Amino acid sequence: MKLFVKKGKLQDIKSQAVILALFQDQKELTGTSLVIDQRSSGLITELINNGDFTAKPSQIAVVYTHGVIPAQRIALVGLGKKSEINLEKIRAAFSKVMQHLRSMNIKETATSIELNILPGKTDKNVQAMVEGALLGLYQYTPYKTVGREDIKEMEQFTIVAGEEEYSIIESAVKIAQIITGGVYFARDLISAPSNEMTPSIMAQKAEGIARRKNVTCQVLDRAKMKKMGMNALLGVAAGSNEEPRFIVLEYSGSSKSKAPVVLVGKGLTFDSGGISIKPAEKMDEMKSDMSGGAAVMATIMVAADLKLPLNIIGLIPATENMPSGSAYKPGDILKSYSGKTIEIINTDAEGRLILADALHYASKYKPAAIIDVATLTGACVIALGDDVIGMLGTDDNLKEKITKAAQDTGEFVWELPLWENYYELIKSDIADYKNSGGRVAGTITAAAFLSKFIGDYPWVHLDIAGPAWSSKDKSYVPKGASGVAVRLLTEYLRNCTSK
Ligand code: BES
Ligand code: MN
Ligand code: ZN
Repeated sequence: MKLFVKKGKLQDIKSQAVILALFQDQKELTGTSLVIDQRSSGLITELINNGDFTAKPSQIAVVYTHGVIPAQRIALVGLGKKSEINLEKIRAAFSKVMQHLRSMNIKETATSIELNILPGKTDKNVQAMVEGALLGLYQYTPYKTVGREDIKEMEQFTIVAGEEEYSIIESAVKIAQIITGGVYFARDLISAPSNEMTPSIMAQKAEGIARRKNVTCQVLDRAKMKKMGMNALLGVAAGSNEEPRFIVLEYSGSSKSKAPVVLVGKGLTFDSGGISIKPAEKMDEMKSDMSGGAAVMATIMVAADLKLPLNIIGLIPATENMPSGSAYKPGDILKSYSGKTIEIINTDAEGRLILADALHYASKYKPAAIIDVATLTGACVIALGDDVIGMLGTDDNLKEKITKAAQDTGEFVWELPLWENYYELIKSDIADYKNSGGRVAGTITAAAFLSKFIGDYPWVHLDIAGPAWSSKDKSYVPKGASGVAVRLLTEYLRNCTSK
């Protein structure tokens, strides 16, 4: 969809439909809605007074204008009560109205954000509006060959702005477009089937990102990893015919001397469980086990496009986890890149193994912070449900910053404890650690394991096993890959620059 920011007034715009967002408890119409209402001898007030439209959150009503304004239709969308408005409600409302108009086969629409009615900062509101509109319209269609002509697409969205707010709105729209572009990129990678999103193809996608200014990409293959001693990652890769890749993306937006933020993303392009094989039900969804890696790649892309004045490193260990004659087995012991030894209890606890080597690699940057993102444990979904990210880590300041970014983006995190007692559960009798602590506190023992491979750096682990994949349509996340953590990480990074 193409976005335009145009100077003027919404009531003067020619369009298939203009969108008006209204509050539930709004006593009087203002701005464009007032003008339209007056010119149409009460078109909107009639709808409201008769109870057809109450402006409940995300409620929609579409009416014809019969020429009282140049636009053909008015699409009303509810924002709910003014006292309860927040960025999530704006995202949800615009996602809903866009989806509705698209389903009517409307190709082009326009709206304006009216400063006088919407509380909060204009740039944040505009960003949320554009995010909601774009994210809700996402659809993954490259593999549909039958009935392609029935695929509906919204082609154009115009945001009309007054003279005074034009430049704020224009820049907020640009930022939102870059960020949602990152989410689309991640969703595309995750939605792609694992036969066409292999570790090598992921690496090629990363090389594509590195065509940008100040971004470089280095890809380590099996031979190189072997030489370096990344045997935890190679252990997981042993059962697969697909070549593993260790992807290093570096974005330099600041002086060389400034310590970077290192982002690490789990890039399991397919997790069958390996010899400890998973049940068949929903195994297809395990193509999304590279969601953390996709989010990290997308975030580097967004950071570069936003030209953030930071140094950021993205590390993505990428492999399949497959059962075969050459696969690693329960009882095997792997010597990780850090030198620490790991006894394999369950080959399905593979994410922490590939992350262990990547997290150790992170130390070489002497980072200001390390954040890893991974679809790591089913236990996290049991504990927090499928909308919430599990957060664990060693640094209160970093956790606080992530929590703040989570609230603003609607990609919510909840902290789980990482106390001493949990470490008992990952002690091995014959190696340093074991890769599974059993069923109890599964998310915590996984994070406890990861913490053993972090040097003395501020670190936070984000378990996105719940929100990475959506089994139903939710607000501005259509069913399937969510691209979660792209907006969260971007917001965190943007906040790092603003002081
Ligand atoms: N990729 C899975 C975790 C997962 C499960 C993500 C469901 C998304 C939805 C991970 O590799 C895994 O299999 N974890 C095991 C760990 C266990 C064997 C200790 C799990 O959660 O069951
Ligand atoms: Mn697994
Ligand atoms: Zn996995």
